[in-house]
Amino acid sequence: MSTHNVWTHKGTFLLAAVGSAVGLGNLWRFPYLTGENGGGAFILIYALTIFAVGIPILIAETMLGRASRRSPIMGMRFLTRTHDTSRAWESIGWLGAAAAFLILSFYSVIAGWAIHYTWQMLTGSLVGADAATIGAGFDALLASPGLLTLYHTLFIIASGLIVGMGIHKGIESGLRIMMPALFVILLVVLAYGITNGDFGAAASFLFTFNVGDLSLEGWLQAMGQSFFTLSLGMGAIMAYGAYMASEASLSRTAFAVAFIDTAVAMVAGLAIFSLVFGAGLDAAAGPGLMFVTLPLAFAEMPFGGLIGGVFFILVLGAAISSSISLIEPVAAFLVERFDLTRPQAVFVMVVASWALGLLTVVSFNLWAEASPFHTLFGRSAFDFIELLTNIFMPLGGMLIALFAGWALTHSEVMKEMRTSETWFRTWRFLVRFVAPAAVAFVFLRTIPQVEG
Ligand code: PHE
Ligand code: NA
Repeated sequence: MSTHNVWTHKGTFLLAAVGSAVGLGNLWRFPYLTGENGGGAFILIYALTIFAVGIPILIAETMLGRASRRSPIMGMRFLTRTHDTSRAWESIGWLGAAAAFLILSFYSVIAGWAIHYTWQMLTGSLVGADAATIGAGFDALLASPGLLTLYHTLFIIASGLIVGMGIHKGIESGLRIMMPALFVILLVVLAYGITNGDFGAAASFLFTFNVGDLSLEGWLQAMGQSFFTLSLGMGAIMAYGAYMASEASLSRTAFAVAFIDTAVAMVAGLAIFSLVFGAGLDAAAGPGLMFVTLPLAFAEMPFGGLIGGVFFILVLGAAISSSISLIEPVAAFLVERFDLTRPQAVFVMVVASWALGLLTVVSFNLWAEASPFHTLFGRSAFDFIELLTNIFMPLGGMLIALFAGWALTHSEVMKEMRTSETWFRTWRFLVRFVAPAAVAFVFLRTIPQVEG
């Protein structure tokens, strides 16, 4: 039977879920994908999916975790048994584990870049540097597989140690201080961007919605990003839901998580694009966007080395609280299923993800232009892994929505949601029809067109 303890404090799930949600997805991935996809149209699709699809699925995923009080894979097995439904639903757990493993592999490499910039900031080596110097420094970082591997290794070891030693549940109190601090520094950068950059250009870039501008793959990326940023469709939220106090409100918590996550992404986007347009940089610079714009602001701002150093430390904190939520569900499964100890389970997951991460490392240098991936899929390994996550997460989310919408009974859902009949009906309509249809629509439109 379940051995899960329950977080006794009602707000603990919220903190853990915000810790999982707010991360590189907001600060690094959201601005870079928005920039590559022309701005407003991308944001429109992203925001629509957050509200019509993301929030209902966030509620559903938390519900499945709390209703089963088990790790995602075991939880889905338990729920399919107690509901006498097809074991095919267990694929939700497997798909999630695969997605977590893929995401961690590149997440750790990118987080490694933040280690590099923490160092650069604190040693003051970028103070007064101009855009060209900072850009060249970033290119030099990417050109070094050794350095990237070193940082990747450090980050993944730190994440693994936290989960392996079982102290991840203790770090929530740290988040209570770190998350607001991160937001405050983002606001400082935004204020700097407003006074020294081109805020008007940023706002019109981000909020001019011309859906015709969005490429087909842009649609898939916008939807994938809305799942990615909320940590949806892969078991991270389900794993935390298993510990959620029974009396905490699912809907209110889900709205709070989505609101905070979106606010962080928007402030980061406005700050970064104000700097981009102010300094005449390229909005479509790709994955390096955050790492060539923010250091520029810190290079020029008074006390920039210190503020920038603290900022990148907080970025690392946000990234670690996300990466531990990637490791946790897989590790919990390995413990339950194969009778491994927690450290052994974490070791297996981390070593495998670390090795896969080397493909992302070389995607920025040795295999940047030509690789077996380019030959097979027309893109780098990093781009290919990102494409897979853009497919896996919405697919997992769609299955979660369908299961919660159709397999759970009215009384089970009401026991978890304890809400008005009207909101229950709205939610059920969203998870039964709207969310699956939206995912299917984007998949059918885009996947046949994704070229190799
Ligand atoms: N939501 C995290 C971010 O935005 C990434 C993440 C995805 C974490 C999936 C856990 C699960 O950075
Ligand atoms: Na996020």
